[in-house]
Amino acid sequence: RPIWLVVPAAGQGRRMGGDRPKQYLPLAGRPIMAHTLERLHQALPNARLALCLDDGDAWFEPAWVAFTCWQRVTGGAERMDSVLGALRAVPADDDDIVLVHDVARPCVSPDDVRALARAADSDDGALLAMPVADTMKRATPGGACARTESRAGLWHALTPQGFRYGLLRRALERAAAGGLAVTDEASAVEALGRHPRLVGGRRDNLKVTHPDDLALAGAILTAQNASL
Ligand code: CTP
Ligand code: MG
Repeated sequence: RPIWLVVPAAGQGRRMGGDRPKQYLPLAGRPIMAHTLERLHQALPNARLALCLDDGDAWFEPAWVAFTCWQRVTGGAERMDSVLGALRAVPADDDDIVLVHDVARPCVSPDDVRALARAADSDDGALLAMPVADTMKRATPGGACARTESRAGLWHALTPQGFRYGLLRRALERAAAGGLAVTDEASAVEALGRHPRLVGGRRDNLKVTHPDDLALAGAILTAQNASL
């Protein structure tokens, strides 16, 4: 059975505020997107890729794609719309596994991607995640501590997140039709009463979001590439 990879890469990177969308900013000598696609290809060389790109994208270079079977998909207004557009575009069977991975996570390890792909082959799917390490505060509207929330059982949701195609398609179609704003695939699946498995992943799988993430991600990539 094929594994499908959906990579949403149609964002504008507003919080980064660079001269181009953040996935095209260079890190360790190459654009972020080139690193991300390379890691995914190392993990799952036979997967089929659907890459969500903005219509007016002038930066993308097909040379970054090593997959033999891949297609471009036009991105949507929000991340969820981009992913749903990709699901509608690929000729997948309901039982096929789909992994969704943010282009803005170039430091993902191929071992974690493979582990997640195995866990995704289950009824409720799975996501990479890491336990919360800091003490969690609930804020008052004025920005003071209202109380301390227990961090026991709290996790950060990372990507990839993987599900059988039929389940994920149903979950995202339902979320879109109901106007439910979801920021990851798992929350749409949870809204169907399912319980995706939390798969502990490496702590260095950061999402490049703000300008000060660039130096950190660059250092992580350089260190990983020296040791992988
Ligand atoms: N994304 C997408 N389509 C959108 C919005 C986001 O494919 N309409 C993708 C981004 O390219 C990124 C991932 O979803 O890989 C996670 O989104 P985020 O980190 O929020 O990236 P941006 O939306 O680009 O950044 P910002 O929110 O700061 O503008
Ligand atoms: Mg965004």
